[in-house]
Amino acid sequence: MKLFAVFGNPIKHSKSPIIHKLFAKQTGISQNYIKINVPINFFSKSIINFFKNGGLGANITIPFKREAYKICDTLTNRAKYSGVVNTIKITSCKKILGDNTDGIGLLKDLNNLNFIIPKSNILLLGAGGAAQGIIYSLIQFGCNITIINRTYQHAKNIAEYFKNIKKINYLRIENLLHHSFNQIHYDLIINATSSSMNGNIPNIPLSILKPDIFCYDLFYDKENTPFLKWCVFHGVKNISDGIGMLIEQAAYAFYLWHGIMPNTKKIIRKYKKNIFNISNISD
Ligand code: ATR
Repeated sequence: MKLFAVFGNPIKHSKSPIIHKLFAKQTGISQNYIKINVPINFFSKSIINFFKNGGLGANITIPFKREAYKICDTLTNRAKYSGVVNTIKITSCKKILGDNTDGIGLLKDLNNLNFIIPKSNILLLGAGGAAQGIIYSLIQFGCNITIINRTYQHAKNIAEYFKNIKKINYLRIENLLHHSFNQIHYDLIINATSSSMNGNIPNIPLSILKPDIFCYDLFYDKENTPFLKWCVFHGVKNISDGIGMLIEQAAYAFYLWHGIMPNTKKIIRKYKKNIFNISNISD
C-alpha cells in the first residue's frame, strides 16, 4: 500500500491520520498514513530513511517546517515564497518536492467562514514559523497585514522577509492603540502564536476587540482555545479555531500526492466539532 506520514515532535495528538483516512475513504484511494515522532536533531535523517523505505509523501509539522524547506530539491511557489514547507512528495525523478499548504488551507477556511475579503485588514499575532507559513497566501489574496509579537525583533524579521512581495506593518504591542503609530481598523485577528499550547493568551489591548471583528486561532483543542475564550468573554461573536484549516491544508496535500481534491465541506461539517472523539470512521 502507498505509504505517507506526518513528521513532528510532539506528534501523539496529531489528527492528520484521521483526516487522511476520511479522504482516502471518500475518494476510494488506498493509502497507509502514519505518525512519526522525530528526535529534534534527526529530521533530515528520518525523512531520507522514510523515502528509502518506500514512503511517497509526508506532512511536516512543528518544529520542522523551516528545516523541511532546506532539504527540498524543488519547491512550489507557495513554499518558495513563504520559506516553510509542510508537505513533501517524492517526484518521478526521485527528487524531493516541497509545498506549503498551510497558507492556502487557512485562506480556504477563512473564505468558507466568510471571515475574509481581499482588502481585509489583518492583525497577525505571532512571528514564528506558523505565522510565516500563512502570510504569502494572505498577501496574494490582497489582504493588508500588521504583525505584533511578544518579541518585537521577530516581527521585524518577518516583515523584512516579505518586503519584496508586499509591505507588512509591524508594531510594538504598546503602540497598537497609539493613533500616531496605528490608524488601522482591523477586520480580522489571527492568533498564530503558540501561547494556546501553554494555556496563555497573547498580550493585546482589549479595545482592539470590536464586536464586529473576526477572530481566528490557528490552534485547536477539545474546547475553545484560551485566546478564543477571551474573545468571546469580551463580546466577539465570530470566532473559529484552526480545525477547518487543518482539514483544508490536508486536502491540498492529498491533492499534491494523488491529484484528487477531497470534498472538505462535507468533512468539516461532520467532524469539525468532534474530531477529538472519532475512533471509528463511518459514513
Ligand atoms: P511556530 O514555528 O509554531 O510558530 P515558534 O517559532 O516557537 O513556533 O513561534 C511561536 C510564536 O508564538 C512566537 O511568535 C512567540 O513569540 P516570541 O517570538 O516572542 O517567542 C509566540 N509565543 C509563544 N508563547 C507566547 C505567549 N505566551 N505569549 C505571546 N506570544 C507567545
